[in-house]
Amino acid sequence: MKRFLILLTLAAALVSCAKKVEISIIPQPASIEAGVGVYCLDDDEIYIQPGIDPDGRLTKAVKEFAAQLEKVSEKDFEIGDEPDGEGFSFILEKSLAPESYELVSDKKGVTVKASDFNGFFYAIQTLKQLLPVEFFGDKRAPGAKWVIPAVTIKDAPRFAYRGMHLDPCRHFWSVEETKKYLDVMALHKLNRLHWHITEDQGWRIEIKKYPLLTEIGSVRKGTIVGGLNANLEFEKEHGYMETDGIPYGGFYTQEQAREIVQYAWDRGITVIPEIDLPGHMLGALAAYPQLGCTGGPYEVWTRWGVSEDVLCPGKDAMFTFLEDVFSELIDIFPSEYIHIGGDECPKTAWQKCPACQKRIKALGLVSDDKATKEQRLQNYVTARVQKFLSDRGRKIIGWDEILEGELAPGATVMSWRGTEGGIAAAGAGFDAIMTPNTYCYFDYYQSDKPETEPFAIGGCLPLDKVYSYDPLEGIPAEAQSHILGAQANMWTEYISETDHLEYMLLPRLDALSEVQWCAPEQKDYSKLLCKLQGKMFPIYDLLGYTYCRTAFGQPGLHE
Ligand code: ACM
Ligand code: ZN
Repeated sequence: MKRFLILLTLAAALVSCAKKVEISIIPQPASIEAGVGVYCLDDDEIYIQPGIDPDGRLTKAVKEFAAQLEKVSEKDFEIGDEPDGEGFSFILEKSLAPESYELVSDKKGVTVKASDFNGFFYAIQTLKQLLPVEFFGDKRAPGAKWVIPAVTIKDAPRFAYRGMHLDPCRHFWSVEETKKYLDVMALHKLNRLHWHITEDQGWRIEIKKYPLLTEIGSVRKGTIVGGLNANLEFEKEHGYMETDGIPYGGFYTQEQAREIVQYAWDRGITVIPEIDLPGHMLGALAAYPQLGCTGGPYEVWTRWGVSEDVLCPGKDAMFTFLEDVFSELIDIFPSEYIHIGGDECPKTAWQKCPACQKRIKALGLVSDDKATKEQRLQNYVTARVQKFLSDRGRKIIGWDEILEGELAPGATVMSWRGTEGGIAAAGAGFDAIMTPNTYCYFDYYQSDKPETEPFAIGGCLPLDKVYSYDPLEGIPAEAQSHILGAQANMWTEYISETDHLEYMLLPRLDALSEVQWCAPEQKDYSKLLCKLQGKMFPIYDLLGYTYCRTAFGQPGLHE
């Protein structure tokens, strides 16, 4: 019955979209006014107003756009600094808000106005979607209608923080794969990559002072095949917690990490690195066992789930280690925010550890009805790292566990265990980023028929559920300014291939981008389906992205 209703809704949406959606852009712009006629592309000029591109990023983005246009349309575009009233013009308009833009096209060409790079860059992403889909191809498309419809678009994002997360620890993603991930984020006007580069299952970033982090800490002896959710018959069948016994590793050199940071920056995306502490640290502990409570030995984990072995805050050397790591990290990542993790840190090792208990005593930490003394010890770790980073001009983000007990002002909370953490954080005056597992965990299945989909961690997060999310839901009006935005998370325990990664990302990223960008009254799920079917899927086909069609009543990748 449910399937029938989905198909009925879909059929109704697709019938109506044939008439309604001519200009198809994701995320939906704030305002679109159709004009009369079209701009026929010709051998025209692309004018960039002198002085508006101090770091050269705009010229680079425009050159890439022009080169692609030339390749597919065989028109010739000259970049110039003298306007001739035809072709494309990029003009500074200081009164526009950060990241917003105006785009006006008529018979003579297209004028884009913005006040910053991101605004101009987003106008280019909109332009790409105004062109025929053949724009995204890799060869000349003489049959395409090389025109841009006359239109006035005024556009601005709803939220300043529009993030997507990537876990290269459970499975590693090469520089090229990460760039392809960034490309599709950029097309959707996202502006933050939360890069989770350390874990129990592997430390993935070169730290020159601690070479064993990558020599030992980046390699595990095998990978779990099968699932955590033994209640699913399907998962039981496919093996529960079995290890394949094949060594698995990978890490980014600092040079490669810088390359990714630059690549992202050229697309308006800031990379926020995460060093997950004090839990999820077996990669580091395997390499430097003296950082743990027992002194080890420890192993890079082949299992999923939560390890009880964590960093030992009883030891001064552990803080020296963290300070050394963050010193190298902030040199690679210019991001104002550094993510320090903080999730799922069991306290059993600390309860038994003489050094930890000594620290607890020295600090005068006591358990009360708000937090245990060990939770307060984690507060101490968070505050110490926060102070170190803030002395160097950086702010911390932590998973919502950092709210348990005390949290120093200036920290930003990432709400993942539902929305409660974000609601509590904003209510207490902290900034928050909403990534609730209920709406934003892209490692979950995309239908209620897991047996028709590639094996996943569990859960059920179909496209319409992502789309239904409002990051301000449940946040009192006076606290809403603390919600910086939203993000979806891509944990990769069961995702080992690029096509699978893309399948989990698309088209949920399209839905997410409208959650992040659009005012609630701009959102329209049946229109989203039309835009996917009519525009984005053909674009993904041309760009070589795999995507999921369960929202269209089709089964997943592997039946
Ligand atoms: C998390 O999913 N453990 C933040
Ligand atoms: Zn300890």
